[in-house]
Amino acid sequence: MNTDLLTRRDFIKNVGILSGGGLVLSSFPFFQSNANEKNLIEGQKARLAIIGTGSRGLYHINHLLKIKHAEIVALCDIYQPHLDNAAALCPKAKQYKNYHEAIADKNVDGILIAAPLHEHAPITIAGLKAGKHVFCEKAMARTIEQCKEMYDVYKESGKVLYIGLQRLFDPKYLKAMELIHQGEIGEVVDIRNFWYRNNDWRRPVPEPSLEKQINWRLYRESSGGLMTELGAHQLQMGTWLYKSLPDYITGFGDIIFWKDGREVFDSVSVIYHYPNGLRMTFESIISNKHYGMDEQILGNKGTLELSQGLLYKEEPKPAPGIQQLINQIEHNIFDNVSFAGPSWVPETASTTKGEPILDHIKTHDGSNTTGAADDGSLELVSSFCTAVITGKSMPMLVEEAYYSSILALLGNKAMEEKRVLEFPQEYVIPYL
Ligand SMILES: NC(=O)c1ccc[n+]([C@@H]2O[C@H](COP(=O)([O-])OP(=O)(O)OC[C@H]3O[C@@H](n4cnc5c(N)ncnc54)[C@H](O)[C@@H]3O)[C@@H](O)[C@H]2O)c1
Repeated sequence: MNTDLLTRRDFIKNVGILSGGGLVLSSFPFFQSNANEKNLIEGQKARLAIIGTGSRGLYHINHLLKIKHAEIVALCDIYQPHLDNAAALCPKAKQYKNYHEAIADKNVDGILIAAPLHEHAPITIAGLKAGKHVFCEKAMARTIEQCKEMYDVYKESGKVLYIGLQRLFDPKYLKAMELIHQGEIGEVVDIRNFWYRNNDWRRPVPEPSLEKQINWRLYRESSGGLMTELGAHQLQMGTWLYKSLPDYITGFGDIIFWKDGREVFDSVSVIYHYPNGLRMTFESIISNKHYGMDEQILGNKGTLELSQGLLYKEEPKPAPGIQQLINQIEHNIFDNVSFAGPSWVPETASTTKGEPILDHIKTHDGSNTTGAADDGSLELVSSFCTAVITGKSMPMLVEEAYYSSILALLGNKAMEEKRVLEFPQEYVIPYL
């Protein structure tokens, strides 16, 4: 395993990131693939079965209906009201309640899985083994063993596998990665991921027998809780940026507020330690939303807030001379300097305004602009449809998803066992 950090030069050599100063697509194959294959797919359609037509399934269906090279030919869900919702959008699609039948449908080239986490591995593996291309939502699977099995079956199958990590297709994340690898924030010294919400994560249940089916997110058998639902997205920053794996993982998780019979933690803090001393953290609480969510990349020369798309320089350009003078007068800089003042003052946060790293986006309140960019989900499913037609997998995508899912699941294991874990060598795959 390569647990050492690649130097920036190595990174550039490996992925060919810089060429004439611009964003080089070889480092981001996601866009490149679509651009090159536009002609190849002209007039063709990826014929898809959507398996799991709940909240995320409907979201994808709405995107797919806008994509010229996509056709939804089958729908599958075990819960009739959700199947009906999808059928209202795709009246011509065939309806199934059993995913094996949907997979076996001869008109289906690819399946898109938006079912609960514990169903990801069995449905994906059945799909790949039946010779179908597969898109499966994140996280990859409920257990570390299942992630590995899915990866192995995918490698053997020669079929396409996509996992729903839309940040890999999100323009503001791609731009941020470009800036980081160009040295804009200097040496990366830390990655801080956090996701705060204030709601119970529950869905209304029409009758008690459906509790575990509908509220699958709250039970350990079907869910990895905050780590797999939210963390799996953000933990991808570790491999994407550090290009290495942590050597140690530890953390604490508890049910601190929503004591309503759920089994998964409603408060987690996990630390991933890398061999050269760098760390990545993930913290999530769902009983306070004040700080929202973000991935903050800290460098010795600047900070990037990825979900906001904002760049903060450690030393912003100095204000013009006259402005500096006004500021000094306003802040009484010329007042008496006390000799016996306190020897310590609180470290104050920078008040510098972040610079948006993309400039064409507006938010509903007109304040920060970049965070409102579309989140890459449309591009992700469009790219999957292209891949279904061409039969070509997307480099890096499965591997990135594999490791972010493994890191999320190891975080859970560390918290459940209250231990410091070492990264298990048997789950290293050829990637980094
Ligand atoms: N990428 C993202 O940003 C993102 C966002 C939301 C959800 N997700 C993921 O999407 C998946 C679904 O989440 P959701 O919020 O839509 O859940 P949901 O409960 O709203 O929908 C899941 C659907 O799957 C159906 N289902 C369950 N078992 C099935 C089976 N064996 N065969 C067919 N259908 C089955 C359920 O009846 C339900 O309709 C999860 O893995 C979740 O993590 C990803």
